[in-house]
Amino acid sequence: MERGNTFLLLERFLAGAVDAGATVERVAAYALHVEQCEARMRCWYSTPGVCIHKDDVSDVLDRLSVADVLVLSSPVHVGGMTGGMVRLMERVMPLLSPYFEVGEDGRTRHVLSPHSEKRMVVLVSTCGYYEEEAFEPIVCQAKDLGRSLGRRFAGALLRPHGLALRFMQARGYDVDDVLQAAENAGRELVRDGAMKESTLAAVRRPLMSRDEFVDMMNSAFDRRLGCQPGHTPGCG
Ligand SMILES: Cc1cc2nc3c(=O)[nH]c(=O)nc-3n(C[C@H](O)[C@H](O)[C@H](O)COP(=O)(O)O)c2cc1C
Repeated sequence: MERGNTFLLLERFLAGAVDAGATVERVAAYALHVEQCEARMRCWYSTPGVCIHKDDVSDVLDRLSVADVLVLSSPVHVGGMTGGMVRLMERVMPLLSPYFEVGEDGRTRHVLSPHSEKRMVVLVSTCGYYEEEAFEPIVCQAKDLGRSLGRRFAGALLRPHGLALRFMQARGYDVDDVLQAAENAGRELVRDGAMKESTLAAVRRPLMSRDEFVDMMNSAFDRRLGCQPGHTPGCG
């Protein structure tokens, strides 16, 4: 995770939040023992609020329940969140009641267990494709999870063509304004309870044109793979 593109953004966002007075706790989904939700709903019908699995998740749910802000940090994998993040988030069912209610937005949702309160969700994500549209499913996923948990979606730090960020950094290009904007977003959220749209736009600003991106990445792949037409699909 520490070597990842998403981590770059996340750490600067958290640095800004800490600078503004927040206390931060990190939970690495991939490093936890998380059993698969079997959808038998024992946490609703047999032992309300308690999952049958005894693994690392109940501690995460305790911490999530008291957090003012839930920061979901995930690269885009197959359009959405990573499998590890989805596996962890499927396990929030014990926080919800089976009963439905109609929210202020006129949409149905499950009633929250008493220990969950209205707080915020933020998404931090990077993707491989050049276009911002690649984030549409993951943003929907984060918003929907926020609704289910009774949390306001406060916004998303999105870095399209995220592959280019470290690549450019390693070659001495000045991309610090992007990371500075991520830090500013963390500071704004804690200080003002909201992130400015201009700050979020600065995080996702194009790093180069689409054609430059394609050329840059393909040249890098050529150097790494040693282009042998007929061997690696797409090369040459
Ligand atoms: C299994 C897998 C699936 C991916 N799926 C997508 C995708 O659907 N859309 C996309 O734009 N990028 C996709 N990517 C690219 C990553 O989102 C991108 O490289 C990201 O910046 C990686 O972040 P990380 O370094 O924090 O892991 C995928 C990468 C992997 C490994």
